[in-house]
Amino acid sequence: MAAMGPEDWALAARWLSPSERALFQRMQRPDQIHCARVARWLLAEGEADEIIVRAALLHDVGKARYRLGVVHRTLYVLLAPLFRAFPPLFMGASGESHWWMPYYVIANHPRLGASMLAQAGCDERLWRLVELHQQDPQLVGGIPDVQWTRDALAKLRRADSHN
Ligand SMILES: [Fe+2]
Ligand SMILES: [Fe+2]
Repeated sequence: MAAMGPEDWALAARWLSPSERALFQRMQRPDQIHCARVARWLLAEGEADEIIVRAALLHDVGKARYRLGVVHRTLYVLLAPLFRAFPPLFMGASGESHWWMPYYVIANHPRLGASMLAQAGCDERLWRLVELHQQDPQLVGGIPDVQWTRDALAKLRRADSHN
């Protein structure tokens, strides 16, 4: 497996607050590496908005809610429409230990990540980008800074899909 290089850690240290860095550290290696690549890609494109770079570093932090294995991730990609179709109720009372949990976490990682960030006291614009990172920017509405959010989301999603 690829490792986080010193330049990846430097990126996290440079852009994230201590509480954001603590959340970054909770992510699994593949997610840290992916998030660092997304942030670096944006910076290489000349991105200067600090919130967008920080959102890139943290956009998949919701996946840290479960220790996802390669099998979970692969199966999810193959069966994504099916997993997304089931409501959380399907998990019943057994919660964290239910076989469904890893797929629930992957399907809902934008919302889970946003609530982790909001609880850590992060900037609202930052956790909003994380919350919405799988949505079509044009469908976003009813929140403060709508136009900024749509533009920022378009950039973040483009960077995410390239990395
Ligand atoms: Fe994601
Ligand atoms: Fe991502």
